[in-house]
Amino acid sequence: MRGRFILPEPAEPQEKHRTRADKDDIPFNTNPRQADALESIARFGLDGFYLGPVAQAVVGAVKRHGGGLTLEDLCAVRVREAAPLTAAWRGKTIHTMPLPSSGGITLVQTLGLMEHTRPIWEKANADAAARMDALLDDTARDPAKRGPFAETDGDKAEALAELPPAFSPAYAHVLAESFKHAFADRAQYLGDPAFMPADPTLRLLDPARLDAKAGMIDPDRTLDDADYAEAENLSDLLPQSAPPPDDHGTSHFSVVDRWGNAVACTETINLSFGSRIFVTEYGFCLNNQMDDFQTRPGEPNAFGLVQSDRNLPQPGKCPLSSMTPTIVLDGAGRVETVVGASGGPRIITGTVQSLLMAHEPGFGAAAVGLPRIHHQWKPAALLVEPAAVPALLHLHGSGFGDSADPLEELGGQGEEVFDEDIFWGAGLEELRRHGHAIRPMIEGAAVQIIHRDPAGNGWQAASDPRKGGAPAGR
Ligand code: DON
Repeated sequence: MRGRFILPEPAEPQEKHRTRADKDDIPFNTNPRQADALESIARFGLDGFYLGPVAQAVVGAVKRHGGGLTLEDLCAVRVREAAPLTAAWRGKTIHTMPLPSSGGITLVQTLGLMEHTRPIWEKANADAAARMDALLDDTARDPAKRGPFAETDGDKAEALAELPPAFSPAYAHVLAESFKHAFADRAQYLGDPAFMPADPTLRLLDPARLDAKAGMIDPDRTLDDADYAEAENLSDLLPQSAPPPDDHGTSHFSVVDRWGNAVACTETINLSFGSRIFVTEYGFCLNNQMDDFQTRPGEPNAFGLVQSDRNLPQPGKCPLSSMTPTIVLDGAGRVETVVGASGGPRIITGTVQSLLMAHEPGFGAAAVGLPRIHHQWKPAALLVEPAAVPALLHLHGSGFGDSADPLEELGGQGEEVFDEDIFWGAGLEELRRHGHAIRPMIEGAAVQIIHRDPAGNGWQAASDPRKGGAPAGR
């Protein structure tokens, strides 16, 4: 199969679910106190969490840390059920997450902009594919050109040479520009719709508006930062850059049952161990989802995102999320793709790219292993993922955290390896010439995908090699 070295093997769901207990070398941790909390929810539903002893323990934990949460606050929590955001895409139907997640709107806008700009990148992609094929053949023949992979055995080098070119610099540029337009809208207009005079979704997805935005995309250069936005006074939105935090606070599950029913489910406590406040009586920690609000005017949140006053905290309001659980139906209405991710705003860009590439010939679910880009308008940096990172993670069968510096294990300095990256090659220079400030992305989103094999061989399932999970089921 093409690219077997870099890309996760899809479509080999295991005979039975793998459990921690199956693996003798991993200690099996139990959390009986959390089991008590889950049992309370199982018996009493929402009241088992938001009323009674669990609620008292949550309020006690927050109070001990100086917080003002009360039993009345928890008692007032209501689940809001919302219809999915539904859009047409290439003759298919997309169901994705509506406000108060920005994920669905930003995904649909980006996919729309990529369709509108197809004439710019389609030919460039075909030309780049031919050039890259020739380069990779050459690299495979000459070990001296394999750079950090020179010591690897023939098989791996050969497989590396099979890495298919995913896209041209022209495509990466247009994709980055599409992300910037969509994230500028996110920053200016999105928040909890229950607290706005009018839901902005339809206006932002209006085809005429998308058409105008697509017309602004210059194939040869980036625009001034302010030109992606419409608001007159942007001073409140302009942040300094903040480094993205570790990817540990969110999980996404993509599920399809034997009858073809599908669930795309993302859950989050935001950052690693959330607020780091532990409810000792019930063995769980509390989230720090408040950081998804615009809490300090003019300052970015932990993911470097800036937002408008539509996303300021208010009693009963939900913070603006980036979660993007998405289900794509084919023209006949059958589930074709189930996808979503963890990774803050990289959830949106990772889900978009995995979806786009899964629907390109030859990739399918393996698309989650391809190097990706990320741009969120602010900070003004195009994050580009070196091919070496997913390759290394796959090679070691590990996820994040096994090595302090994965690039160091390749025997080179990050920047050096990056500049010679076999996947991006001279494309990085072209992107710089277009005006992008490029930074290596070491921690990409972790995407989980199930995709119907277009050749009719059933389902393909792939867990992102960046996080070390595995598909389960049969
Ligand atoms: O809902 C959101 O957009 C964030 N709370 C997601 C945070 C996240 O994905 C962190 N890590 N994996």
